[in-house]
Amino acid sequence: MALDAALGLLACPTCAARLSRDGGSLLCQQGHRFDIARQGHVNLLGRAAPANADTAQMVAARARFLGAGHYQPIVEALRSRVRQASRIVEVGAGTGHYLAGVLDSQPDAVGLATDVSPLAARRAAKAHDRMGSVVADTWAGLPIRSGAADVLLCVFAPRNPTEFARICRQGSLLLVVTPNDGHLAQARERLGLLGIQDDKLAKLNRSLSGAFEAIWSQRIRWTMELDAAAVTDLVQMGPNAFHEHGQAAEPLTVDADVQLSVFRRPIC
Ligand SMILES: C[S@@+](CC[C@H](N)C(=O)[O-])C[C@H]1O[C@@H](n2cnc3c(N)ncnc32)[C@H](O)[C@@H]1O
Ligand SMILES: [Zn+2]
Repeated sequence: MALDAALGLLACPTCAARLSRDGGSLLCQQGHRFDIARQGHVNLLGRAAPANADTAQMVAARARFLGAGHYQPIVEALRSRVRQASRIVEVGAGTGHYLAGVLDSQPDAVGLATDVSPLAARRAAKAHDRMGSVVADTWAGLPIRSGAADVLLCVFAPRNPTEFARICRQGSLLLVVTPNDGHLAQARERLGLLGIQDDKLAKLNRSLSGAFEAIWSQRIRWTMELDAAAVTDLVQMGPNAFHEHGQAAEPLTVDADVQLSVFRRPIC
């Protein structure tokens, strides 16, 4: 089972002890037990998913859109920054697309995907045979052992600098992908989608500066020729799914413009 590959990374969400497999559950030494779902993921959230967790429709749209390769330049950029990693974590991993792509280029590595959406975690559980998948809330604290990660990926997902610093070993890398101002500009304009938060990069650097050093930043731009179905998936796979917007009725040329920021956890 793919989850077994990631067991060494996991910590009990109740007492922080190591978790091991006991038949169809994960178990810590204190006796806290968590059932492994039939689909292979495990819910370590300990409560119901929040109302804004990705829905089945959003997850399906994301899987189709990413599976068609429209965001492949992000996969390539992430791969180019990862060398000889053993343990790679992705938080807010959605379908696990990026972690699976990086694992493909790291044949000796194991991966762990976390997401607050059980439906996303279910999908990520099938994304790669060396990737475990758990339901967890990045804000509430990650069920991951301290210093366990060699590489931490965070692509268009919430960040918790304190937790990131705790789970990253000294000398490890944190790779963050954020949208730049021009990202999806034509789709935003045509369909009245949500805007991009101002000053996103400066905020990112400020929030991580206490625990990480910024070592590399790369702007990645490409153009996507999307048919109407792909435009619909692009809209449905993100937060716009929760908001009023126009309907995509025709193909659209859409520019993608994102930033890959690489940070290192200093060696003390
Ligand atoms: C825009 S999607 C990006 C997903 C994936 N990284 C990708 O790019 O394909 C944001 C993801 O963050 C997840 N998410 C939102 N809030 C979260 C939280 N508090 N903890 C963990 N994941 C969260 C959502 O369920 C969703 O899968
Ligand atoms: Zn425990």
